[in-house]
Amino acid sequence: MKISIINGPNLNLTGKREPDIYGTKSLDNYLQLLATAYPDVEFTFFQSNIEGSIVDEIQRAGFDADGIVINAGAYSHYSLAIADALRAVPAPAVEVHLSNVYCREPERHHSAIAPACKGVIAGFGLDSYRLAIEALDSMHNA
Ligand code: DQA
Repeated sequence: MKISIINGPNLNLTGKREPDIYGTKSLDNYLQLLATAYPDVEFTFFQSNIEGSIVDEIQRAGFDADGIVINAGAYSHYSLAIADALRAVPAPAVEVHLSNVYCREPERHHSAIAPACKGVIAGFGLDSYRLAIEALDSMHNA
């Protein structure tokens, strides 16, 4: 099974930025550990702070991967371009967030990309990524 993990703006600073909200651990390190925990899954990892680069990666990975895990950061809340890209490719996507966006400011309660995803996992910190992989794996084997 091939899973593409796509991260948007500022996720590269996880562990350093707003640790009270996003924790103190690095996302890169966590994803490396995750890859070793799922030796049968072929992962690709991508992070960009640029909306168009995220669209390019969805277009590239979305015809090859069996699933996409996407944390589009702030773009989640308003990017129709990322939502359209997710709809354009056959790979099912799971939207993830480290924080529980529904406990935060109202502008974080709306997701522009959720309607283009199979489901949403938010609020479990880095473990949100593992839960998304489990969800894709179950769908893949159903
Ligand atoms: C986030 C939540 C977004 O609202 C925020 O803009 C982020 C991170 C999360 O993982 O909790 O950058 O996607």
